[in-house]
Amino acid sequence: MRLDKFLANMGLGTRTEVKTLLKKGKVTVNNKVEKSPKTNVNPDSDEICCEDKLIEYIDKVYFMLNKPKGYVSATVDNQHSTVIDLISDFEHLKLFPVGRLDKDTEGLLLITNDGNFNHQLMNPSKHVPKTYEVISKNSITKNDIESFKTGIELHDGLTQPALLEVTDDEYKSFVTIYEGRYHQVKRMFHAINNEVLALKRIKIGDLALDRQLESGDYRQLTPQDFKLLGLK
Ligand code: URA
Repeated sequence: MRLDKFLANMGLGTRTEVKTLLKKGKVTVNNKVEKSPKTNVNPDSDEICCEDKLIEYIDKVYFMLNKPKGYVSATVDNQHSTVIDLISDFEHLKLFPVGRLDKDTEGLLLITNDGNFNHQLMNPSKHVPKTYEVISKNSITKNDIESFKTGIELHDGLTQPALLEVTDDEYKSFVTIYEGRYHQVKRMFHAINNEVLALKRIKIGDLALDRQLESGDYRQLTPQDFKLLGLK
């Protein structure tokens, strides 16, 4: 792995900030000052320090991805690009998406290689809320809001109560659900004789999609993000 990537991935700053650290001679690899961001390092065997502090290699990783449309939430797919294809340099860590977003859904998707993290967020018994921005074909009525509040009857049973919020734009709403059934938001809208035209996940728990992330970009989760997810 490139040294600048390693440092950025271990949370020492953005790629640009890390390059500055390197230029200033603050980083050593096996006790030798290393200034080139392109230097290849082996995180398992090389001893990498910044300002004399050993940077421990973390083998569990957690990313927030701003998923673009057109990518499937899977680790491999014969036909389509997967969300894992968007994350470079971590192939050896066996990454997978935390839950699924449909191919045409965009927004907040967490990526990890930690099964326990996945379980904490996706186990239906945990009731972690997920909020979506919806562009719908028809505007939302007071009745729709009430129906979501009581739960919507789908072919696989009644949904848990959900929060449907209108905005200034009559075709744009926010919906918060507490479970994660297949095509759930689309099916709930269908059940109220409406149709989802565009769907974007903007929040999981209290963790909002980072507005700095362009579509397709990702970053590591911070300790504050874990708190917002109600973890650690
Ligand atoms: N609900 C849907 O219908 N699709 C998604 O991708 C997520 C939630």
